[in-house]
Parts: sequence; structure tokens; C-alpha cells
Amino acid sequence: MNQSNAIGADRANYRATHSAGRPIAWQRLISPAIYIGGMVPAAWVFYLAFTDQLGADPLNVLERTLGLWALRYLVIGLAITPLRRITGLNLVRYRRAIGLLAFFNAALHVIVYLWLDQGLDAAAIWNDIVKRPYITVGLLAFTILIPLALTSNTAMIKRLGAATWQKLHRWVYLAAAASALHFIMLVKAWPPEPLIYAGIVAILLAFRVVDWQRKRKARAGVQRQLAA
Ligand code: HEM
Repeated sequence: MNQSNAIGADRANYRATHSAGRPIAWQRLISPAIYIGGMVPAAWVFYLAFTDQLGADPLNVLERTLGLWALRYLVIGLAITPLRRITGLNLVRYRRAIGLLAFFNAALHVIVYLWLDQGLDAAAIWNDIVKRPYITVGLLAFTILIPLALTSNTAMIKRLGAATWQKLHRWVYLAAAASALHFIMLVKAWPPEPLIYAGIVAILLAFRVVDWQRKRKARAGVQRQLAA
């Protein structure tokens, strides 16, 4: 991709996310379908919990399932840009829905932990945060997701301005890395699943770093051309 194409693609990416050309009728149904479909795993695991079908340790299964879905949605959200660059398939329009699904699942995961697991006992929660580093790292990930979720709407994008909004939303990479680390830290042995998620997050982060460098070079090139 040449320099001006790289910048053009960047702008197109941003427009596609936030103001995109008017979607046709059936396309307008996709986002609601993603929100509804995306909450099915959480709704299903709550149903299994309330109907006593989660085995010997239902609370742990409930907690873990919600955490896992939060991480899955974070990974899917991060994969949208690389997917577009590599295959041309543009799902940028749906990134907001995927991001909010990650947040909803993470919030439910945290609520289950605070309420059902710890009984809202502030002292026990504080002890856990201090004593179990994976809780601290999970908390870091969740804290980052809060402002991102609160600003995932068109009004906030307009209020903050595109550049500030984009800068703020880059924190999602740290949230994803912290979530993957949280998963690795809480396992006692070395099962493959947390390592697979960490590997995917690392690849997606590396992709973004390379992409940023390429865009920086492209911008510098355009500025040099304009100055010449
Ligand atoms: C973005 C935020 C977070 C994500 C993506 C996340 C993700 C996960 C994942 C993937 C698991 C393991 C699931 C499995 O084993 O299949 C997990 C477990 C767990 N997480 Fe989180 N988590 C987050 C935040 C938090 C926070 C803030 C807390 C507590 C304050 C927390 C507490 C726990 C606990 C207690 C477990 C279960 C540990 C056990 O089984 O002993 N998580 N989380």
C-alpha cells in the first residue's frame, strides 16, 4: 500500500466505524442481532446456574464462563482491523457492538465475583485484590474497559473529537493484554487455552504496532511532499 493509500485506508476505517455511509435496511438489523446473539452465552450460563445444571461448583463455572466470553469478544474486536487489512472483509461497523459485548460480559463476570463469590464483603475483596495478583490484573483490565464503554457512542465521539477518541480507545490493547495475563496467572498448571489466547492477543498487538509504524512513516512522507 502506498503512503496516501495507507492514510486513506485509515480515514475510511474511522468513517466506517463512526459515521459510515447509510446502511441498507437488512444491514441495520445486523448490529441488534450481534447484541442479542452475543448475550446468548451469558444468558444461557445464567439459566444453567439458576436451574442447577452447572455441576459441583456452579459459581466457579458461571464466573469463568463470563470471563472467557469477555476475553473472546475482546479478541474478536481486536481482530476486526487486521481481518480487513488482510482479507478486505470490512466488519468495522460492528466493532462497537463487539466491544460493548466484551464490556457487558466482563461486568457480569465482576458482579458475580463481587456479589455471589465474595458476598460484597469489602474486606474480603480488598484482601483478594492485595493477595492474588491475578485479581489485581483483572481489575486493571476492567477499569480500562469502563471509560471505553462509556465513550462508545456517537455523542461522545463528537464531544471528544476523533483524534482524542481514537487515542483513548487504544487502551483496549492494554486491557486485552491484561485480560490474557489474568487468565494465564490464575491457572496452576500450563493448560493450552490461556496460552492460546495470550498468543492471539500478542499477534494482534504486533500487527497494530507494525501498522502504526507504517502509518507514521506514511504521514511523514506526505508531510515531506507537502513541504517540498
Ligand atoms: C476485562 C476484564 C476481565 C476479563 C476479560 C477476565 C477474564 C477471565 C477469564 C478468561 C477467566 C478464566 C476462565 C476459564 O478458566 O475458563 C477468568 C477467571 C476469573 N476472573 Fe476474570 N476477567 C476479567 C476481570 C476480572 C476481575 C476485575 C476480577 C475480580 C475483581 C476477576 C476475577 C476472576 C475470578 C475470581 C476468576 C476465577 C478464578 C478461579 O476459578 O479460581 N476477573 N477471568
